[in-house]
Amino acid sequence: MRQLIAGNWKMNGKLAEVAGYAQAVRAATLHADLLICPPFTLIDRFAAALAGSGIALGAQDCHANPHGAHTGDTSAAMLAEAGARYIIIGHSERRLDHGETNAIVAGKTAAVIAAGLTPIVCVGETEAQRDAGEAETVVRQQLAHSLPEGFAGVIAYEPVWAIGTGRTPTEEDVAAMHAAIRAALVEKLGETGKGLLILYGGSVKPGNAASLLALPEVGGALVGGASLKAEDLLAIAEAAPRG
Ligand code: 13P
Repeated sequence: MRQLIAGNWKMNGKLAEVAGYAQAVRAATLHADLLICPPFTLIDRFAAALAGSGIALGAQDCHANPHGAHTGDTSAAMLAEAGARYIIIGHSERRLDHGETNAIVAGKTAAVIAAGLTPIVCVGETEAQRDAGEAETVVRQQLAHSLPEGFAGVIAYEPVWAIGTGRTPTEEDVAAMHAAIRAALVEKLGETGKGLLILYGGSVKPGNAASLLALPEVGGALVGGASLKAEDLLAIAEAAPRG
């Protein structure tokens, strides 16, 4: 199965950057699937710039309802119309900044699936939780309550303390957590759980991508800072194992 290398631009990026970035990623020969998740304002422009390229677009959040009186929110169907095929849900920055609970995440995830898109559901422990030996319990709890019935999509394991810090867990810790996530998915979803991609996210860079992406049960990466430069995202994609 090809790995998925997803760039999460977070609240970064201008219209003027889209054409150059799109041109750079279009020119690459890829053996991994590439996904760009820019802010809402750039999705439509990116969709035009990447048309016919096979490079997918995604969004970083959506509302749980398809439409209605929700000032400032955007629905999955609207994002689909703009060109998104994936939506990141429950990123730790949203869980922290916007108080998104597992129940909220489950509702949004169901909305993404109902709109015919693929959710990327984020889970991950804080540093205090890891230090207390609770990392796996926390992530299992998040999975148990953040995934709606009939879930099909992508999971991203992003330890909160590894995001934007330049620190990553040891290879053993990443492999152990990905194995635990796989076990939880199979327990909850049966056969479907065996085939879902589990991405690693948190300070993935061109220099550490090859060793992280080679670990068992790692199906790709969710890349923040390094995804803002096309050449860095492409270098990470190049480091993915061929398969
Ligand atoms: P960094 O790659 O900047 O650590 O961010 C990871 C992340 O949060 C991706 O969603």
